[in-house]
Amino acid sequence: MNWEALLDRALDLARRGAGEVEPNPRVGALALEGGEVVGEGWHAFWGGPHAEPAALEDARRRGRRPDTVVVTLEPCSTTGKTPACTDLLIREGVKRLVCGAVDPDPRHRGRGLEILRRAGVEVIARIREEACLQAAGPFLRWLTMARPWVIGKWAMSLDGKIATRTGASRWITPRALRARAHLLRARVDAVLVGSGTVAADDPELTVRLAEGPDPAVLVADPELEISLDRKLVKGAGERIVVLLAEEGSFQPGKRAALEERGVEVLSFPSPLNLAAALEEVRRRKGWQRILCEGGGRLLGSLHDLGLLDQVEVHLGPRLIGGSEAPGPLGGLGPSGMEETLPVDVVKWEAAGGGFRLVGFPGRSGSR
Ligand SMILES: NC(=O)c1ccc[n+]([C@@H]2O[C@H](COP(=O)([O-])OP(=O)(O)OC[C@H]3O[C@@H](n4cnc5c(N)ncnc54)[C@H](OP(=O)(O)O)[C@@H]3O)[C@@H](O)[C@H]2O)c1
Repeated sequence: MNWEALLDRALDLARRGAGEVEPNPRVGALALEGGEVVGEGWHAFWGGPHAEPAALEDARRRGRRPDTVVVTLEPCSTTGKTPACTDLLIREGVKRLVCGAVDPDPRHRGRGLEILRRAGVEVIARIREEACLQAAGPFLRWLTMARPWVIGKWAMSLDGKIATRTGASRWITPRALRARAHLLRARVDAVLVGSGTVAADDPELTVRLAEGPDPAVLVADPELEISLDRKLVKGAGERIVVLLAEEGSFQPGKRAALEERGVEVLSFPSPLNLAAALEEVRRRKGWQRILCEGGGRLLGSLHDLGLLDQVEVHLGPRLIGGSEAPGPLGGLGPSGMEETLPVDVVKWEAAGGGFRLVGFPGRSGSR
């Protein structure tokens, strides 16, 4: 069999997950029966099925029983957001596994292949390995990160404004795009906002226009300015709401009042170091994928600190105007163009008269 050609086909499938699965690897798979491709699959979104079960399911729908699976990355052998793929391959009676890259994660490297070999599955590994690792996307960088993956999302007008000069921002984008934003909320561990946004908009940050679970909420609120009548505080009994505060900058009584209502307060030495705070959040909560929905000051800080791993820009067909009206990224920003970050745009799609763009800021090699 020409495994290289089949791996190239699986690589094309892997790329379909770009913009939806990160920081998970982009992975593609084919299911074969007697040398014929009878199923295709890819890891389509964060938390969704991996490529191998997707390809096997595709084959099953066609009434076929695959004997071989070709996959761009070593099958997982541990249960995470989804069950272990090695178990599934063995249970489904797959006789041969052809794999592109061995899992680069030192905790798993080669383990999945070993489990399959011991179960009597023929394993052919490291075919088009370099290309398969490349196609996996920012996954390699993710393996070295101690903090959660941060997606910065904003809705802006065609002239690049996220609110009017008085701070009004409902609504800049059409309903179809807002529904897409809600779906994104369902596919992250937590939504992060600044205290300015909570004060201005009193947001719910729930999944109302799409299917899926409500994410936990994280608020950057160094001085614990959040008012007790905010929807996020009232809803704290039913979902996890965590505030990032700065020691010495808030009234202890306010902390007690918030904790009484079920809000968790994590306080950090002054001045609040966002990168260190996010690391602590991952250690304590296990959150891996966080969506920052604004506002401009917080997104600007994340940008200045190099903490925006991915951007999701929703462009509404509307003009706002006004030099006082804010743009999506406040903060200081760079002075020279050579310091600005290029963005590897992997998705650009129309919805409801607006656009959705997904990309990865960074110098080549870090994306
Ligand atoms: N169109 C959209 O997508 C969208 C989305 C959200 C919000 N908005 C609009 O944006 C406006 C609100 O945004 P905003 O810029 O005023 O406020 P914001 O960014 O929501 O909140 C600012 C808060 O974040 C904290 N913060 C920012 N960087 C920090 C850092 N490096 N370390 C510690 N804390 C940090 C600030 O603390 P300090 O006070 O200590 O500096 C402040 O409490 C509203 O008009 C809202 O409607 C638009």
